Amino acid sequence: MTEQGFFTEADSADVVISRNAAAKDARLAEVMAVLIRHLHAAVKEIEPTEEEWFKAIMFLTDTGHMCNDWRQEFILLSDVLGLSMLVDAINNRKPSGASESTVLGPFHVADAPDLPMGANICLDQKGEPMRVHGRILDTEGNPIAGAKIDVWQANDEGFYDVQQKGIQPDFNLRGVFRTGADGSYHFRGVKPKFYPIPDDGPVGKLLRQLGRHPYRPAHLHYIVEAPGYDRLVTHIFDPDDPYIRSDAVFGVKESLMAKFQPVPADPAAGFDTPFLDVAFDFVLSRTAT
Ligand code: BEZ
Ligand code: FE
Repeated sequence: MTEQGFFTEADSADVVISRNAAAKDARLAEVMAVLIRHLHAAVKEIEPTEEEWFKAIMFLTDTGHMCNDWRQEFILLSDVLGLSMLVDAINNRKPSGASESTVLGPFHVADAPDLPMGANICLDQKGEPMRVHGRILDTEGNPIAGAKIDVWQANDEGFYDVQQKGIQPDFNLRGVFRTGADGSYHFRGVKPKFYPIPDDGPVGKLLRQLGRHPYRPAHLHYIVEAPGYDRLVTHIFDPDDPYIRSDAVFGVKESLMAKFQPVPADPAAGFDTPFLDVAFDFVLSRTAT
């Protein structure tokens, strides 16, 4: 096997990349070459001391140790560095008019209950009542029948049910709905509150050292799916939230702002006290054939 030459500071990236010349997977070789080039450039620019380099190694070690079946600290790291949103943007370039995507987050559960349209997803009667409604449309404005809408949200204290087992009922503030012929959806919930991303691990410590807060502005999560259309993973946000301009994971987009409009009681619609009305349509792009 031919070697380009011995390792030198000046040639460091080229020497390492040439060692991978027999890689079995061309994409792996390409990815590793880019990473090696950028990492070597970063180290050359930073010129870390050996103590600093070891600190970096220990940060990644601690990040790995924090991971278990339900806690993925590396995804949180990717989130707070803006990398999750960048990968999301690259993989979800939408045609004009289609709704934009954002991060999935760690609190989705796969087996939320199928609920009849109009159901109340708040199972513990806590919080400010809210009616959420809208339509699922294609990019020509036609309704999409049979769309599956999976929604989940934090409660009025900023916790998901899975973070408060035994305090909130299982499947609180989650549900799966299916649109009828007119493509419309509606359900009841409660106004969500902003909340911190899990910040009791190395990523939280990093945020504090960087002078950053861990909060995400109040939002509702949606996954909208229909045969023949691209799956949409997104949120809608409260534009009046104190953290709307500083989401810890950079997930906010202008097009995903929903108005949480206070309206008077409407007993005929099942609201005996004033409530919040939230209207939001989603537009799905057709799957490329
Ligand atoms: C969430 O919105 O559920 C979330 C997203 C990224 C990190 C943590 C939480
Ligand atoms: Fe969330």
